Amino acid sequence: MSASSVPVLTIDGPSGSGKGTISRRVAEQLGWRLLDSGALYRAVGYAAGAEGLDLSDAEAITRCAQTTKIRFQAVTDGSDTRVLVNGHDATDELRTETAGAAASAIASIPSVRQALVDMQLAFRKGPGLVADGRDMGTVIFPDAPYKVFLTASAAERAKRRYKQLKEKGLSVTLATLQREIEARDTRDASRTVAPLKPAADAVFIDTTGMGIDDVVAKVLAVVRP
Ligand code: C5P
Repeated sequence: MSASSVPVLTIDGPSGSGKGTISRRVAEQLGWRLLDSGALYRAVGYAAGAEGLDLSDAEAITRCAQTTKIRFQAVTDGSDTRVLVNGHDATDELRTETAGAAASAIASIPSVRQALVDMQLAFRKGPGLVADGRDMGTVIFPDAPYKVFLTASAAERAKRRYKQLKEKGLSVTLATLQREIEARDTRDASRTVAPLKPAADAVFIDTTGMGIDDVVAKVLAVVRP
């Protein structure tokens, strides 16, 4: 089947909206592939940091985005997919808030976004793709037949992130997290290229106060009404 006939479900939304968990569960249930596009931006931010580049040097960061080798390695023990950046397993480093902030900074550079387009399109293979990100339904897969925009209040998103990071043994405070989340939202929503906004044809789901299973069911119903 040609790439454009492969069904895609785009799941966009702000950080902490539950996109990661929901996308993974929904992809498993559908038996579709998963694209975690945020991991690509995090990987470029990480590689740039490792090379000691200035994150505001658009030319250097673009070259870095064009040359960084990013590989996703599925694991069989049920734990998270590993992300290899230039051959180094950077999965744990990529989860930190520092990596999120670096990703958000470099993601506002148009030529960096452009450098990652083909890599994202290459994920569109049968039987289907669940694409998790900020601009999946608006820019990367505008022709996707299924689109969802997930959100939740900033306070709830900070709480979820707090729990996740605590479970991973990282030390953070709730107040700092909420501030960081709000700063990242503002930057992601106000950038001129591919800002965070729902596609006109996306199903909007506010997950504040909802459990994971209920959100998964709602998202699955978009694909299988
Ligand atoms: O989703 P995640 O928190 O991993 O994304 C990290 C950052 O990467 C976001 O804050 C955003 O700035 C950027 N990003 C993006 N476009 C995407 C996915 C992520 O700009 N499709």
